[in-house]
Amino acid sequence: MQWMKNMKENNVVWHNSTVTRQRREAQNGHNSIILWFTGLSGAGKSTLAHAVEEELHSMGCKTFVFDGDNVRHGLNSDLGFSKEDRSENIRRIGEMCRLFIEAGVIALTAFISPFQKDRDIVRNMVKDGDFIEIYCDCSIETCEKRDVKGAYAKARKGDIPEFTGISSPYEKPENPELIINTGDTSLAESVGKVIEYLKDKIY
Ligand code: ADX
Repeated sequence: MQWMKNMKENNVVWHNSTVTRQRREAQNGHNSIILWFTGLSGAGKSTLAHAVEEELHSMGCKTFVFDGDNVRHGLNSDLGFSKEDRSENIRRIGEMCRLFIEAGVIALTAFISPFQKDRDIVRNMVKDGDFIEIYCDCSIETCEKRDVKGAYAKARKGDIPEFTGISSPYEKPENPELIINTGDTSLAESVGKVIEYLKDKIY
């Protein structure tokens, strides 16, 4: 693994926690996991992630949502939207999620994360079953019609370069654990589908 190689080269030694993930999970009464929502801007990733978080929170679970727009204000404010910067954006979020699941938390993310390779890198950071890829499937027409932030109109005019779905690609997940049709499905129904899928994974 690359991180092990880096540690050797920099004389950095991993310090193992005595309070382990397993002990934290046992105390929380549920397993930790990453719920990775991916899809076009305006597909409803954030709305769904926050609504799923509400439901999990009310069930007594420890949760946290990482939201594209918010993270880009702080941790990743040095990154733009080139292919390289998007990859770095997703890599950092992946590492953050890796720490959160070690902390016993259910980490939910809402990033476009348009490239399969980048999503797979995060999947491979954690053990099998820890990464749940949830494709928020919503047509570009519907996203553009919603245009909550007015970004599509700007992108059409050429004011936002490399805009996903217009002037930059979105690669649909090849093998997601879940596909939610966020164009047609109500929020309540979408939340129900995610929770149903999760029940035997987190308990
Ligand atoms: S990602 O591609 O690197 O995963 P991320 O989810 O962090 O993107 O950020 C997406 C948000 O940034 C969009 O909801 C939109 O508001 C804003 N944005 C600004 N420029 C772009 C762009 N060129 N392409 C897509 N989204 C953009």
